[in-house]
Amino acid sequence: MAEKTTTAAAAGAPRLLDLTIDNITPNTIAINSQSSNARLTYLMSRLVTHLHDFARETRLSNEEWMAAIGFLIGCGQICSDVRNEFILLSDVLGLSLLVDNINHPKPPVGTEGSVLGPFHTHDAPVLPNGSSMTSDPAGEPMLAICTVKDTHGNPISGVKIDIWETDSSGHYDVQHTDRDEPSERCVMESDDQGRFWFQGLKPVSYPIPHNGPVGKLLQMLNRHCWRPAHVHFMFSKDGWDKLITALYLRGDPYETSDAVFGVKQSLIIDLDKVDKETADKYGVQEGSWLLKHDFVLTTQEETEKLKDQLAVEALQKLGLRMKLVDHLPVPDLD
Ligand code: BEZ
Ligand code: FE
Repeated sequence: MAEKTTTAAAAGAPRLLDLTIDNITPNTIAINSQSSNARLTYLMSRLVTHLHDFARETRLSNEEWMAAIGFLIGCGQICSDVRNEFILLSDVLGLSLLVDNINHPKPPVGTEGSVLGPFHTHDAPVLPNGSSMTSDPAGEPMLAICTVKDTHGNPISGVKIDIWETDSSGHYDVQHTDRDEPSERCVMESDDQGRFWFQGLKPVSYPIPHNGPVGKLLQMLNRHCWRPAHVHFMFSKDGWDKLITALYLRGDPYETSDAVFGVKQSLIIDLDKVDKETADKYGVQEGSWLLKHDFVLTTQEETEKLKDQLAVEALQKLGLRMKLVDHLPVPDLD
C-alpha cells in the first residue's frame, strides 16, 4: 500500500501516488474507509474488490469499459415515472431474485418469494372481498379464492394484500399511454378467517419491456424476454415479514426459462373451473377459471432468526471474521 500522509486532515488516508494494477485496490479501499459507518465501509470495500478483480480477470478493454458506461447512460435515459430500466437490469442479471432470497428466507412451510418487477403501483383501489379488479372484456375471467395463514396453520386477519397482473394483451395498465385509472390491480384485506377472494383474469405470458438497453442486451446474449403467465401478490401486516410473491401457471412455455428467474416450483399452480355451487356462492359465471391457493406468512422474528443463522453459516464458509449488526454483516475487528 502507498505510504500514509502526515497532514492532520488526511490522517488515516493513504498517499495516492504511483498506483498500479497490483496496489490500486487496497489504496481505493483505504481511502473509502474513513467513514464511521462500518456497513458502508464494508459494502464499498467488497464492491471495489470485486469490480477491480473483474477488470483484472477480464483484462477489460477501454472500448468495453466505454460500452458499459454507454449502456448505463442508456438505462438512465429511458427511465421515467413508470419505467425503471435499472430494476429491469437487476432482474435479468438475477440480482433481484438473489437479494430477495437472501433477505426473506423461508422455513419449508412458508410461501416463497418472487421478483417484484417494475409494475407495482401505489394507486391501486382498495376493494372489498369478492370484487373484480379487471376492466378488460377480452380476458378470460378467473375467480381467485385464497387464504393467508401462519406457519402453524392459524388464519391471519387484517393482512393488506396488493394484487396485480397484466390485461389479456400482456400489458400492465401503466404500459398503456392512455391509462387514466388503475386496472388489473387492487388492494384487499384478509377477513377474520384469513380469507380473501377476487375476480381477475387468467394470466397470460408476456415480454418484459425490451425496447431499451436491457432488451438489446438480452438479444446480444441470445436470450428471450418472456415471463411465464403469473399474478403478483404482496402481503403486509405489522409484525409479519413482507411477502412479495407471484403464482405461475403450470405448463406455460416459459415455465423454466423466465427472463427474470422468478419461478419456483412451490409457486406453480393448476387452475380449475368454477362449478355451479361456487358460481352461485361467489356470483361468477359457471365454467370460468378458478385459482385456489393458501399462502403462509412468517413473522418478522422467524425470518430474522433464519436470516441471521444463514448469514453466519455463509460467512463462516467464506472464512470471513464477521459480526452481525442489525442483522447485517460487518467485519469483527474486536
Ligand atoms: C413483472 O412480472 O411484472 C416483471 C418482473 C420483472 C421485470 C419485468 C416485469
Ligand atoms: Fe408481472
